[in-house]
Amino acid sequence: MSTRPVLGIGVVGFGWMGQAHSRSAARIASLFPERVFDTALVVCGDNVAERREQAVSGVGFREAVEDWRAVVDHPDVDVVYVTAPNMMHEEIAIAAAEAGKAVFCEKPVGGTPDQTVRIEAAARRAGVITGVGYNYRWAPLVQHAKALIESGRLGEITNYRGRFFSMYGADPMGLLSWRFLVDEAGYGVSSDILSHAVDLAHMLLGPITEVSGTRETFIRERPLPKAGGTHYDRGQPGDPTGEVTNEDYAAAMVRFANGARGTFESSRAIIGPESQMAFDVYGTKGALRWNLETMNEMQVFLVDDDGRAPRGYTTVYAGDRYPYHGHFVPGDANAIGYEDLKVIENYEFLTAVATGEQHRPGFSEAVDYVSFQSAWLRSCESGAWETVNSIRQD
Ligand SMILES: NC(=O)c1ccc[n+]([C@@H]2O[C@H](COP(=O)([O-])OP(=O)(O)OC[C@H]3O[C@@H](n4cnc5c(N)ncnc54)[C@H](O)[C@@H]3O)[C@@H](O)[C@H]2O)c1
Repeated sequence: MSTRPVLGIGVVGFGWMGQAHSRSAARIASLFPERVFDTALVVCGDNVAERREQAVSGVGFREAVEDWRAVVDHPDVDVVYVTAPNMMHEEIAIAAAEAGKAVFCEKPVGGTPDQTVRIEAAARRAGVITGVGYNYRWAPLVQHAKALIESGRLGEITNYRGRFFSMYGADPMGLLSWRFLVDEAGYGVSSDILSHAVDLAHMLLGPITEVSGTRETFIRERPLPKAGGTHYDRGQPGDPTGEVTNEDYAAAMVRFANGARGTFESSRAIIGPESQMAFDVYGTKGALRWNLETMNEMQVFLVDDDGRAPRGYTTVYAGDRYPYHGHFVPGDANAIGYEDLKVIENYEFLTAVATGEQHRPGFSEAVDYVSFQSAWLRSCESGAWETVNSIRQD
């Protein structure tokens, strides 16, 4: 019999992310034999009946409820996953923290910078472990990129190019789901996907000190959604439409604290890149490029010791010599997938919960992003470069 503590899992919002976290928590035992905890899927909250049914019959929760408060208040729940639309994060995450639960909130942790700041402060006051879903940090080759940069192998980093382009909103017949509405999502791509690109740069290069930003909404009307639809569903010509109330496109020029310069671009209404969460890092002795669309490959260009440049980039394939990869498949060039990153993320977060050590990225790193976002928003209005200051609440 196992003597590991069993962490009771509660999930609020059983859409894409709620399902991904639930399945991932359940897979940890088979993939990480060295774990110091076990998990139990206790209760799932969703306001759509079919999703509650799937949570119990398909994924193995003991029960499913309509009212999220029953998740937060459940005595067997130790960890609450907040995977509902962004503008619901604040109420649920603060209630969970005040109930003494560890809280994993999907990015961006609230729909506005003010909400993120209030959530972080409440969790800090409650003294609970927090986590945020910046899952691309955990890709084995991204971990390798970080090690290469820190080792100095790329020399001094001169510039960085980050982007997250997704076609999820490229079709004007794509439904007006919660992501396109300021009342339900808060900001648009700057919260939804630029946040991932900037968070990864924070991890790889450190803080950003100055930003110049711009934004646009290209598709201003969309068909109204049906119950249970997602941002990948489509309407029909003639369907009633509504107004898109947040941005489709966000871009920035930046200066990092370490002196490097950089650019970021993000769009959900773009044709071509389907899920291009990508970065390029350029240093005085080498360069790297990685793209989620080919997440098991990284392009590496290293100048020889005698200072001569080889011809072109070399492809490095992911494999069990890089962090975490061997937990899923042995050997080289046997691929892992998107949801495997959620398993790694949950393994690390739940290890922190079981050992009582704060997890990174937690709500503090979510505030780092919205501190950048606040300066970016000011710059979009002023047209000038703006300084990035921490907006963390004391
Ligand atoms: N880390 C990532 O890569 C990533 C990817 C996608 C989404 N996200 C984040 O995850 C969160 C959820 O996004 P998603 O794509 O899973 O959305 P989704 O629309 O697929 O799921 C949202 C779920 O919340 C439920 N819900 C809505 N109102 C509710 C209520 N009052 N009570 C209980 N449940 C309710 C919906 O029925 C739905 O099942 C967002 O914050 C989003 O930014 C993160």
